[in-house]
Amino acid sequence: MGGMLVLASLLFLNIAGASKDTFQIKPYLHFHNNQSINVSWQYKKAQPEHFTIPLDQACGFEEKFYQLSGMKLPQKIKSIPCLGGSETLRLSFLADTQEGFETNQAFGEMIESFDSHSVVLGGDIIQNADDDDEWKALFKAFEKTLSQRVLVPVIGNHEYRGDSDAKNWEKYFGFNANEAFYSIWLGPVKLIVLSSNFEDDPSMVLRQLKWLEEELKKPAPWKFVVFHHPMFSKSIMHMSFYWRKEYLPLRQYYLPLFEKHKVDVVLNGHSHIYEHSLKDGIHYITTGAAGGKFGKEGGSNPFEIKSALDRTLIQFEIGLTALRMNAINLDGKTIDDLYLRK
Ligand SMILES: [Fe+2]
Repeated sequence: MGGMLVLASLLFLNIAGASKDTFQIKPYLHFHNNQSINVSWQYKKAQPEHFTIPLDQACGFEEKFYQLSGMKLPQKIKSIPCLGGSETLRLSFLADTQEGFETNQAFGEMIESFDSHSVVLGGDIIQNADDDDEWKALFKAFEKTLSQRVLVPVIGNHEYRGDSDAKNWEKYFGFNANEAFYSIWLGPVKLIVLSSNFEDDPSMVLRQLKWLEEELKKPAPWKFVVFHHPMFSKSIMHMSFYWRKEYLPLRQYYLPLFEKHKVDVVLNGHSHIYEHSLKDGIHYITTGAAGGKFGKEGGSNPFEIKSALDRTLIQFEIGLTALRMNAINLDGKTIDDLYLRK
């Protein structure tokens, strides 16, 4: 890597030897803690590269730009509101993007129109994890969206498909699948990200549990938890014949902690059916597949208050004491909403 210049709030990353228009994957932003933002990219005939942009604080910064060789102009990084600040957080959530290039692109444009501060992608982001072309297509679909706002990645079962150690996950995000549990602050929201891929890695059931309880104990205006597999669903995936049963350890070990420590919202994907469930004051929002095949119903969900067999994008506006959620489909139509006050 070549020299890096930091000019006031302008940050230039100069990569030696690269010329214009040589990107295989254009830069995308992502983060897994509040100390830094990662910018990743891939030049032609090269491996993905990562650069960590250290930040004094990952929120409320003013003018932060990055520029890599091959970029015509510096790109501004969208700042996230700070906890306790007056700005409302706009947060987008989608999952199961898989092979849906056009639908993913359309959702990306909706995220941009909403002017979202950050995007949470809830797993199964590609169909076959060992297919580099799929990863390229994913980042291409969200090229503009993720060049300027940070992605919060959540690992799903397809990230292990054809890639049992999730090596491509590590290649594109720069951290191991075993470390795919972390927490970040997004304005007034404490977002806890978990891995629920217990069939692919049974050690995850207990590995993140003690850490999770410690995180949940800490006070926060809003507590959100996101992981791939829903606990409650009427999908056929929750019928007894279906071999994946992540929802059982989730209900046994995780659910009591969520209830004890008063989580507000749980976000999931995987079933490819939009389902909004309510149990003991916790809203469970399972988003419909952004790009994957439509789900099949067959099981039962006693806690369901709304469902739809549709592709959905979840848009949140969150202040210190009020939260609004809109679940919208590809036509921009609201198919479910939620308003909470504290
Ligand atoms: Fe899945």
